[in-house]
Amino acid sequence: MIEHCFSQSAARTAKELIVISADPGLWRRSQAPLIEYVEKIKAPKPVVLYYKKLIPLMYRWGIFNSLAPLKWLMATIAGFFRPISRSPFTRRDLQEVAIKSAALAAENFVLALTAQGFQTCMMEGFDEWRVKRLLKMSWSERVVMVVGCGEAAPDGTWGPRFRLPLESVVKEV
Ligand SMILES: Cc1cc2nc3c(=O)[nH]c(=O)nc-3n(C[C@H](O)[C@H](O)[C@H](O)COP(=O)(O)O)c2cc1C
Repeated sequence: MIEHCFSQSAARTAKELIVISADPGLWRRSQAPLIEYVEKIKAPKPVVLYYKKLIPLMYRWGIFNSLAPLKWLMATIAGFFRPISRSPFTRRDLQEVAIKSAALAAENFVLALTAQGFQTCMMEGFDEWRVKRLLKMSWSERVVMVVGCGEAAPDGTWGPRFRLPLESVVKEV
C-alpha cells in the first residue's frame, strides 16, 4: 500500500492507512430504507416525493449516459421558471456527489482522530488503479482519499505548516 502512495513520508511513517472510497451506485442500497423511514415518520409530501421519484430520476444515468441529455433538457427547461437542481446528469456527475459525501466523512474521521490526540495526513497522492486492485474494490468505486493515521513522526512531513493568505481563499460578496 505504501508503494501505491508513492512511498511518500506521510504514508511510510503512518501507523495505519485508511482508504476512503465513494461509489456512485450505492444510492440504490440506501433508497428503500430511506423511503421506509420518511414514510414512517410521516415526512412532508415533497420529502417523500424527493426520495421516491426525484432521486431515482436524477441518480440514474443509463447505458453510456444515455439518460443525461433528456435530464439536462428537462432541468434546463424547468430551470427557466424556477431554481432547480442542475446536476447530476451523468455517471461522472454522480461520482462527484458521492465523492463530496465521502470527503465530508474523511474530514469528520480526521477531526475525530485529532480530538482523540492522534495525527493524520489526508493524501491524494496515490495510484488509484493499484489501490483499487489491492483492496479488491469494484470498478465503479472511486478512491477519494488515503488517510495516514497515528502519532506524528518527526519525519512525517517535510516542512512546517504553510497557509495561504485568508483573502486569497475567501471571497466576500
Ligand atoms: C485534496 C488534498 C490532497 C492532499 N494530498 C496530500 C498528499 O498526497 N501528501 C501529503 O503529504 N499531503 C497531502 N495533502 C496535505 C495534507 O493533507 C495536509 O497536511 C492537510 O491538508 C492538513 O494540513 P495542515 O496540517 O496544514 O492543517 C493533501 C491535502 C488535500 C486537501
